[in-house]
Amino acid sequence: MLKVKNLKKVYQEHSLLAIKDLSFTVHDSEIVMIIGPSGCGKSTLLNIISNNDNNYLGEVIFDKSKIGYVFQEDRLLPWKTVEENVRLVNMEGEREAALKILDAVDILPFKDYLPKNLSGGMRQRCSIARALYYGSDLLLLDEPFKSLDHLLRNEMLKLIAKINQDTNISILYVTHDIDEALLLADRIFVLSKRPSIIADDFRIIEHPMKRNLESPKFVDLKNRIINTLERP
Ligand SMILES: Nc1ncnc2c1ncn2[C@@H]1O[C@H](COP(=O)(O)OP(=O)(O)O)[C@@H](O)[C@H]1O
Ligand SMILES: [Mg+2]
Repeated sequence: MLKVKNLKKVYQEHSLLAIKDLSFTVHDSEIVMIIGPSGCGKSTLLNIISNNDNNYLGEVIFDKSKIGYVFQEDRLLPWKTVEENVRLVNMEGEREAALKILDAVDILPFKDYLPKNLSGGMRQRCSIARALYYGSDLLLLDEPFKSLDHLLRNEMLKLIAKINQDTNISILYVTHDIDEALLLADRIFVLSKRPSIIADDFRIIEHPMKRNLESPKFVDLKNRIINTLERP
C-alpha cells in the first residue's frame, strides 16, 4: 500500500508552488490513474514517490520495498541489447526469469536487438520488462505511451492490465489522456491545474479493457472529467 498525505511541493529556486495538497492511497494490486493538465505536477509527484526528489512537505509512506518506474521516454542504454538492459537492474537474478518476462511482454524474439533497432512500442515493452525484472511491488508510469499510435497504445494498455492481473503489482499511472484512464483504472483521480489538488475522484468496477467507452455511463464519466479539467 502506498499512502500520500498532505503532499506539498515548492520548487524553491523558482518560488513555484507545483503541488498544493495531495492525499491519496493506492491499495495492493490496485490500478490508480491520475489525470491532470500539462504542468500540473504529475511528473513531480512520481519523482517524489520514487524517491528521486526528497525535497517536499507531507508524507509518502510505502510499506513494500520495490518501486519500478516507466517513463515517457524509454531510458534504455543504447549500447546494450534488450536482454542486457533488462538484466542490468537485477544482476543476481536468473537469466531464465528474465527471458520469461521478455516472453510475457512479447519481445523475446528481439532479445539481442539494440534499442535503436526496435520500434517505440517494443522499446516501451523493454522498459516494462525491466521494471518487472527488478521485482517491483508498485509500478509508476509517467505518460508511458504518449508517443505511440492509437492501436499500439491500446495493446500496451492491455499488457498493463494483464500484468496487474497476473502479478498483483499495484499501478500508479499518470496521464493527460482521459480514455486511457477510463479503459484501465480501478480508480481515477482528476487533478486541478497547478498548484494541484485532487479535484474529483471516481471508482470504476467494470473489468479493465472490457469497457465500452461509447456507452452512456462512460460518455457521462468522460464529460464529468472534462468539466473538472476545464475548471479555472
Ligand atoms: N526542476 C524544476 N524546477 C523548477 N520548476 C519545475 C521543475 N520541474 C518541474 N517544474 C515546474 O513544475 C510544474 C509541474 O511540472 P511537472 O510535474 O513536470 O508537470 P506535468 O508532469 O503534470 O506536466 C511546471 O510548472 C513545471 O514547469
Ligand atoms: Mg510530466
